[in-house]
Amino acid sequence: MDENRISSGIQGIDEMLYGGIISGHIIGVVGPAGSGKTLISLQFLHSCLKQGKKCLYISANHNEKELIKNSRIYGWDFEPFINNKLLDLNSLEPVLTSKFLDELPIIVSKIKTDIVIVDPVTDFLLLCQDEIESRSRLFNLFKIIKEYRATALITAESDVDSSSTKSGIIEYAVDGLFINRRIQSADMNEIMHVIQIAKMRWTKHIREIRQYDFTDKGIEVYSKYNVLLGDTSETKRK
Ligand SMILES: Nc1ncnc2c1ncn2[C@@H]1O[C@H](COP(=O)(O)OP(=O)(O)OP(=O)(O)O)[C@@H](O)[C@H]1O
Ligand SMILES: [Mg+2]
Repeated sequence: MDENRISSGIQGIDEMLYGGIISGHIIGVVGPAGSGKTLISLQFLHSCLKQGKKCLYISANHNEKELIKNSRIYGWDFEPFINNKLLDLNSLEPVLTSKFLDELPIIVSKIKTDIVIVDPVTDFLLLCQDEIESRSRLFNLFKIIKEYRATALITAESDVDSSSTKSGIIEYAVDGLFINRRIQSADMNEIMHVIQIAKMRWTKHIREIRQYDFTDKGIEVYSKYNVLLGDTSETKRK
């Protein structure tokens, strides 16, 4: 892989990016509840750790024990990386009050890492009084990440019926944006998950909507999708 690129840990996404995530980029992953934001972030985390990168993972809705235990289901064991100090796993779940607003940038600025992951940043923005505060707090957080030249993945919730976040700020602030959506198959029998790279500054990327699935090894993004026929068998990677 190009030394300026970092694998997302998901082969189908790396393909859509003609390589991987550009080092130093802040990537937003936007999607409704249950669309795989946490899994994408954990899969990226595990892949970065395997590449020897120092990582900071901040969860706003799962505690550390829960994350470590459930990640094992997919074959991702984070404990050795915590023990050898390659991974700093933080849960901000107990401080989901206005303290969160100050706590998040403090943690990011104290722990200098190659990779910063925040899942999700939604509450951080919801706790702000107004749009001006959300913008300034988010831009300040991103400024800290950029100062350290870290590469970041930030998830955010979108409404089920829309592909954008409530505030819409994340979409503008990030360098790259993955949008996860749920759609119904033509025969109405199946709900399918699709992903699109809506933007990726400074590089070309595939704009097609691609289907993905949840597997016992995490997220798998297929090379094409065929929703209109309601038949994905021909298009799946395997
Ligand atoms: N092994 C598996 N096999 C099939 N589906 C799975 C598997 N593991 C997870 N899922 C699916 O993944 C969904 C959860 O994904 P994840 O927690 O990453 O979503 P999320 O976007 O972070 O959700 P939230 O907004 O609630 O935090 C589950 O609802 C389930 O549909
Ligand atoms: Mg989640």
